[in-house]
Amino acid sequence: MIVVTGATGTIGRALIEELGGAARAVVRRAEQGEELGCDYVVGNLERPESIPIEPGDRLFLNSAQWPGFVRAHQAVIDRAVAAGVAQVVTVSVRGVTSSSLLGFGMHGQVDDHLKASGVPWSILAPVGFMQNLAGDVDEEGRILGSYGRGRVGYIDARDIAAVAAVLLTRPVGADATYELTGPVAPTHDEVAAELTRALGRTVRYVDLSVEEAAVHLEKRGMPAHAARDLAELMSQIGDGRWASTTTTVADILGRQPRSLREFLG
Ligand SMILES: NC(=O)c1ccc[n+]([C@@H]2O[C@H](COP(=O)([O-])OP(=O)(O)OC[C@H]3O[C@@H](n4cnc5c(N)ncnc54)[C@H](OP(=O)(O)O)[C@@H]3O)[C@@H](O)[C@H]2O)c1
Repeated sequence: MIVVTGATGTIGRALIEELGGAARAVVRRAEQGEELGCDYVVGNLERPESIPIEPGDRLFLNSAQWPGFVRAHQAVIDRAVAAGVAQVVTVSVRGVTSSSLLGFGMHGQVDDHLKASGVPWSILAPVGFMQNLAGDVDEEGRILGSYGRGRVGYIDARDIAAVAAVLLTRPVGADATYELTGPVAPTHDEVAAELTRALGRTVRYVDLSVEEAAVHLEKRGMPAHAARDLAELMSQIGDGRWASTTTTVADILGRQPRSLREFLG
C-alpha cells in the first residue's frame, strides 16, 4: 500500500491523482477523504499511532509546517522504521540544513533524522512552487520581496507529485535527495511580466532591503522575529542558491517540467 499524508495539500492532491487507486490517503477529517474520493484513513501526524502503516508499505510523508512539525515528523519516521515500512518519500526544500532559518531549518532537522533512521528514503528538495506566485501579488499589483536580481527556478507542484509517484511505484532505489526545479530560473521582474500577461493587469516586482521587507511583513501580521527571518531568507535566496536548474524532473519523468507560461495558461 502507498500511504499518502498531506493528501489534501497542493502536492498531495496531485499525487493521489497520479497514483489512482493505489493510494491510501491520510486525512484529518472524514469529509476530506470523501471529497478526495479515494481509499482513506482519518489520522493526524501529531498522533503517529493514527498513521496507518504496515510492513512493506511505502509512505509519502508531507504536511504544512507548524511549531510541532519536527517532533511529529520525526516520531512518524520512527514509527515507520518500527513498522518495517519499505520506503519513506518526503518533501523538503533545496539546499537546507538543520541550522537554516525558519521552516527551512525544521526541514533540515527532519531530513537528518530520516537519513539516520535506517528506513530507505527519498527526499524531494524543490524550490518555490509556481502555485504560490499569483497569491503574492497585492491589491496594487505589486510583488514585494528582498530577492534582488536573484533567479529562482520555480516549479509546478504537480511535477513534484509526478516525481513522487514514480519513486513510490518503481522498485525502491538507493537513498537519495532529488533537487527539483522548473525548466528555467526567472528573475522576479520576469515572473511579474509573466503574471502581467496571464492576469491581464500590470504586475511589478518591488525589491526591498531586508529591513524594509521585514517591516512590510510585520505590518501584514507576522511576528517581528519571523518577519526578519523571512526577509533574510528571501535575500539569501536572492544570492543565487536557487538560480541553477536541474534535469532531475526530466530524468525521472522523461519529459520537461512545466514552464511558468504553461502553468499560468
Ligand atoms: N510552497 C513552496 O513554495 C514550497 C517550496 C519548497 C518546499 N515546500 C514544502 O512543501 C510542503 C508543503 O506541501 P504542500 O504545499 O503540498 O502542502 P499544503 O498545500 O500546504 O497542504 C498541507 C497538507 O498537510 C496537511 N497537514 C497539516 N498538518 C497536519 C497534521 N498535523 N496531520 C496531518 N496532516 C496535516 C494538511 O491537511 P489539512 O487539509 O487537514 O489542513 C494538507 O493536506 C512543506 O513542507 C513546505 O515546506 C513548499
